Amino acid sequence: MEKIKKIGVLTSGGDSPGMNAAIRAVVRAGAYHNIEVFGIYQGYKGMIENNIKLLSPRDVSNVLHRGGTFLKTARSEEFKTQEGRKIAYENLRKNEIDAVVIIGGDGSFKGANQFSKEFAIPVIGIPGTIDNDMYGTDYCIGYDTALNTVVEAVDKIRDTAGAHDRLFFVEVMGRDSGFLALRSGIASGAEAVLIPEKETIIDDLKKYLANGYNKKKSSGIIIVAEGDDAGGAYKIADLVKKDFTNYDIRVTVLGHIQRGGSPSAFDRNIASQMGINAVQGLVDGKSNVMVGLINRNIVYTPLEQSAKHNKRVNPTLLSTIDILNSY
Ligand code: F6P
Repeated sequence: MEKIKKIGVLTSGGDSPGMNAAIRAVVRAGAYHNIEVFGIYQGYKGMIENNIKLLSPRDVSNVLHRGGTFLKTARSEEFKTQEGRKIAYENLRKNEIDAVVIIGGDGSFKGANQFSKEFAIPVIGIPGTIDNDMYGTDYCIGYDTALNTVVEAVDKIRDTAGAHDRLFFVEVMGRDSGFLALRSGIASGAEAVLIPEKETIIDDLKKYLANGYNKKKSSGIIIVAEGDDAGGAYKIADLVKKDFTNYDIRVTVLGHIQRGGSPSAFDRNIASQMGINAVQGLVDGKSNVMVGLINRNIVYTPLEQSAKHNKRVNPTLLSTIDILNSY
């Protein structure tokens, strides 16, 4: 096996707080192993457009604490085509890049898996998504920060909900997964959490709310994941409103504030650890895998599996909400 001399690093898909910390770790771990690291700007789009620049360890000073990604990110339709991937590969060759680190989520890894099967180039993924739904890791970079952003916002909403005796439906991100909704619901004492992984039956929700009302609850918070099968927070609030004219109902959609902000200490830590171990994995000859953390240990999972199998929420966590709110 040829020694790796030049690595490309890119961020792809939805950004997540801590991606900069991961890029920094890849660049500095590269320097540690005498490997040059090239930043590929705007994800796969930049690979196709040859938007590639050498990054020195000093170029990643003062990025550790910043949200977003200084390499920028994009969703590339062209990379989904074979012609697009071929141009991308040729650009890597032009720059003599012999391995790539991809920081992103599910969609980004599907592309990476396809790419590394078609062209003989080692690829390692680092999971970065606030959805936390990647198989092969307990935590994805950005999830902890987003969780804290949601909890901080819901705490504020709870103040005004209590002051006015109102019921709030708060929509959080999670197109296909309910990790953010479920964990923020537990941490903020939500009355109920509605997630895509569990069917939402509006009549059951109404009964549940009526029960709380009978027990003299005067305000409440329902967290709704944006991808819930019954619809978003506005739709569900409308369905409940019809039968509960006595409730003063409001809706808040938290939106993209969940994706930004300075990363938490936890996200900076895992991003640093994963970045270093992505480079170490390449040095050790690993390819087509995602670096993850399971029970605090570094684990490499084939991209094939991490991109195909969605990580499932723990169903017992849903009962946590019911147990804590049945009084
Ligand atoms: O980052 C993942 C995610 O937050 C999903 O939960 C959400 O549906 C999606 O990104 C929205 O992304 P965008 O606004 O970039 O289309």
